[in-house]
Amino acid sequence: MPAFPLFRKTCSWIERQRPDPYDRRFSGRSSDSDAFPVMESENKQSRLSLKDARADLRGEKRMMKERTVFVNGTYVPWDDAKIHIMSHSVGRGSSIFEVIGFHDTPNGPAVFRLDEYVARFRNSAALLDMEPPLSASGLQEAVLETVRRNGLKKGIIKLVGFYPEIAFKILPPGKRFQVAIFVFDLAGDLGESLQPKDGSVTACISKWRRLDPQTVPIEAKVAANYINGIVARTEARDLGFDYAILLDTRGCIAEGGTESLFLVRGGRLLTSSLGTILNSITRKTLLEVAETMGMKTFAGRLDPSTIVEAEEIFFAGTVGKLIPVRQVGDRILQEVPGPVTRRLFERMTLITSGGDEHFRHWLYPV
Ligand SMILES: Cc1ncc(COP(=O)(O)O)c(C=O)c1O
Repeated sequence: MPAFPLFRKTCSWIERQRPDPYDRRFSGRSSDSDAFPVMESENKQSRLSLKDARADLRGEKRMMKERTVFVNGTYVPWDDAKIHIMSHSVGRGSSIFEVIGFHDTPNGPAVFRLDEYVARFRNSAALLDMEPPLSASGLQEAVLETVRRNGLKKGIIKLVGFYPEIAFKILPPGKRFQVAIFVFDLAGDLGESLQPKDGSVTACISKWRRLDPQTVPIEAKVAANYINGIVARTEARDLGFDYAILLDTRGCIAEGGTESLFLVRGGRLLTSSLGTILNSITRKTLLEVAETMGMKTFAGRLDPSTIVEAEEIFFAGTVGKLIPVRQVGDRILQEVPGPVTRRLFERMTLITSGGDEHFRHWLYPV
């Protein structure tokens, strides 16, 4: 029987069981010592911050109001970063965006691979015939200055390109868009966790296929494309899973809703080739880091049966970094995180904290 129907059957079986995705008995994990150590410590921090954030919702709102936002060339308070609901970007989902990480290093905060994220942002604009108001170096400087003005040691940057004009018709009124840059701490400001509660996640193969490159420019990080990830994650949640794995329209493994997917088989790191997936900067980074570490890598067409054969599976992306998967459908993985995931996670932590000479050029000091 082909692998895909097997997983669909599995998902409905799981649905009947209605498991708690964080239940250790269900996950097949034996003890706390199984947890991914670095992630676990981050977890504790984000749990504390979540508690704080909930307290903020009850009483005074804490940090968010204090954040400074870059909007169209000026710096404004968080609450003034607004556009009209009838704007083209709200009505048609035409805003493009990037999510970038900045990290605490001995030399102060540093933005990770800023050049790559800005280049991808400009590529999204080019794919959609949108005209940027700033050059690549102008955007990089605006990002660095926004981080400086917010005084955080580490966190998330959201770069947004949008049409604020009121528009009813499908085409935007003009090509020139505006830029906004937000800087925040995901847990402390938004009350959202950076890492899975238990250090690993469950996933199912979605009934939804990854957007086909012949229907829209899928490499553009444009809000409208994200309905694909939204429906897949909604389905996964309703079936009792944390994350979704999307196949492409040819039936090969594509990626997660908003994450890249990696598998390890026979010690080799596998991921889908570009074409039907987002040109993820974390994916590109991990492939390069893995090769530097002497690991064998492969980027190509992956049959869904690879999920049954893989020794390790993890999602990867800017926000979640490496997210180990402990279960896909009814397949329970034994060692989570496995040795390859663990080694890569540790090396990435070293790189982003400024401790790795070889990759220090990836850090842009603020
Ligand atoms: C569809 C999709 N795939 C993969 C990723 C990971 O990309 P990156 O590593 O650049 O964050 C994202 C991130 O938003 C995404 O939306």
